[in-house]
Amino acid sequence: MDPMEQNSQGEQPVRAEPDSVRSAKHSRRAFLFKLSLAVNGAVGAVLAVPIIGYLLGPAMKKGSSYNSWISLGSLSDFPEGETRLVNYRNPVTTSWDGQTGDIPCWVRRVSGTTFQVFAINCAHLGCPVRWFAQSKLFLCPCHGGAYYADGARASGPPERGLFEYEHKVSGDTLMISAGKMPTLANQARVDTPLTQIDGTDATKRLMALERPEPRCGSCQG
Ligand code: FES
Repeated sequence: MDPMEQNSQGEQPVRAEPDSVRSAKHSRRAFLFKLSLAVNGAVGAVLAVPIIGYLLGPAMKKGSSYNSWISLGSLSDFPEGETRLVNYRNPVTTSWDGQTGDIPCWVRRVSGTTFQVFAINCAHLGCPVRWFAQSKLFLCPCHGGAYYADGARASGPPERGLFEYEHKVSGDTLMISAGKMPTLANQARVDTPLTQIDGTDATKRLMALERPEPRCGSCQG
């Protein structure tokens, strides 16, 4: 009987596939399986890089340049009584951070070796503040916050003055501790006075100011 003829129930008979067709299907399935494995592996690797970087980043940064001192420039770059904008390179950036690794700050030279270095970010919600020399105020463009020349709050929404960097004068160079941004949390952990001026009487004066005075004779310990 012709294999293509209908049987007594009117059904078409099933024809067995030739070996060549079966092996072609098998090899195509194996190829697609391997391809999907390779694609999934590549996607997994791409996703894993930032996750591993995020997990290992803090440890690597702490081990390298966390809390390192950075030069802001020579003392002669900062005229007495003036406040200037200075950019420094964040020591905890990576090479692909580009310009985002450049951080601006305001440097005020009070006199001699007495400086203040302010974070540029407003203490309210972090907008960059600008210094207006004529009015001697730092003004925030976002919600109208204002600060005096010494960084103290003048008016507006900020509840405190500008954050200050830990800094010191070393030889002829002004340096800041740039590995950590000046925030309330960081300043609470600072053990040494925020202003360190090597080899001058100003250090003694500042330390005397920071030492709390006894309130009464009986309180003295
Ligand atoms: Fe500066 Fe709000 S961010 S006043």
